[in-house]
Amino acid sequence: MALYLGLDVGTSGLKAIAIDADRGGVAASATRDYPLSTPRPGFAEQDPEDFVAAAMDALAEIARALGPRVAEVCALGLTGQMHSAVLLDAADEPIRPAILWCDTRTTAECEAIRARLGDAGLARTVGNRALEGFTLPKLLWVRAHEPEIFARARRVLMPKDLVGLRLTGVCATDVSDAAGTLAFDPGARRFSAEVLEAFELPASLFPPAAESVEPLGTILPEVARATGLPTSTLVVRGAADNAAGAVGLGVVRAGRAMASIGTSGVVLAHTDAHVVEPAMRLHSFCHAVPGKHYLMGVMLAAGGALRWYRDVLCDGERLAAELSRTDPYQIVTDAASTSRPGAGGVLFLPYLMGERTPHADAQARGAFVGMTARTTKADLSRAVLEGITFGLCDSLDLIRTLCGDGAVREIRLTGGGARSPFWRKLMADVFGVRVAITTSTEGPAFGAAILAAVGAGAYPTVEDACDALVHVTQVVAPDPVLSARYRDIHVMYRALYGELRDRFHALAALD
Ligand code: XUL
Repeated sequence: MALYLGLDVGTSGLKAIAIDADRGGVAASATRDYPLSTPRPGFAEQDPEDFVAAAMDALAEIARALGPRVAEVCALGLTGQMHSAVLLDAADEPIRPAILWCDTRTTAECEAIRARLGDAGLARTVGNRALEGFTLPKLLWVRAHEPEIFARARRVLMPKDLVGLRLTGVCATDVSDAAGTLAFDPGARRFSAEVLEAFELPASLFPPAAESVEPLGTILPEVARATGLPTSTLVVRGAADNAAGAVGLGVVRAGRAMASIGTSGVVLAHTDAHVVEPAMRLHSFCHAVPGKHYLMGVMLAAGGALRWYRDVLCDGERLAAELSRTDPYQIVTDAASTSRPGAGGVLFLPYLMGERTPHADAQARGAFVGMTARTTKADLSRAVLEGITFGLCDSLDLIRTLCGDGAVREIRLTGGGARSPFWRKLMADVFGVRVAITTSTEGPAFGAAILAAVGAGAYPTVEDACDALVHVTQVVAPDPVLSARYRDIHVMYRALYGELRDRFHALAALD
């Protein structure tokens, strides 16, 4: 039976999986970690060679684990962190560390992009506002601060595309990753000549972009030798991690959305057409489904806010968890379930890392508001979970306002947050729409393997492949009475940021 591989070049490490072509079961998986360096505050870099070494190593482990079944491997799909810039010289060798999506050194370049193109120009050409994380501002930073390096740069690739280049010898990207560069027109699905000209960048700096299911080619003979994979293994471009994550959940048709709670939180809705929110608070990117799109909101601290709460305010819970050999998050969510909706009048703002959607404000800050002498630990725990969920709902509401309620009829959950039954129910009630979990627990790597199966011709379309390989295991419907109550509380939550913004900025200046 045919096997398909998915390779996710993530930020904390790399994950490779092999799936069976008929039901989507995972036949083997391997992970490798690599370091992230922060040479200066706000900088986040990784060694591009670490991506390649981790990929080769993990693929060899998968081949070993499959044993004789390795002969059944047909194709491999790529996915990985978005926006991160890997600069290559004329010999296709990296010339500096990769500058990552979470690096914030480019505020001045973002302002310059805004000044040159204006909001209307950005909306028309690239459909997104200039954010520090995106690739174009990183290129402008390198040109301004490291001119001798920029002069040697011939290509900029995303991490997954560097791995694709080393596996096949072909230098290319896919439309979902290209859309995250801020130099790509998602509506036309090609790089924007207007933007490249405005910043005097040669079009040859970016690799050719095609749909995510398009193959790059077969693996090089030396890769087959080093990994043990068959020489016939086809490498398919694959997609940005969020697009591939959505494919892995079957979010490939209008009406379906994804909510992902990792360190950050992502709300992503499939759209058939390219739509741009007037204030560009949502990202408008190309989907991994050929010709389709998605809208996305990103919260910088979702699971990250809960982890902060666990680490800073939950010593007792951590000790209890150690003694009873349970998960401290379990103890926190169990306690939260004993408080009432509205957490006894306490609201929590989760902007511990600033925020991206809906506020795009690096100086936004976290807050507990509304505590009294009767406030309990259970109330605080519930307030944290509710606050993160309201933050996700802000992105969802932007999508519903732009595209109508029908744009989101079901939200499929992924990431650590999806594991808690209490949180799943809270999400259904706060979002006011049913939430679902699927058999896919492998994240973007699973979506990349699905794209590999489509690219190799095992399924005619991404939608068909998802119908066969992604299975919904549980659906949680919202309780209309609770949803109405949460809507009222959400109004108060939303007002708080505006009321506190100036204070946040003044406090940030003290830091
Ligand atoms: C999306 C974004 C992150 C990265 C993480 O715009 O910046 O979700 O894709 O890899």
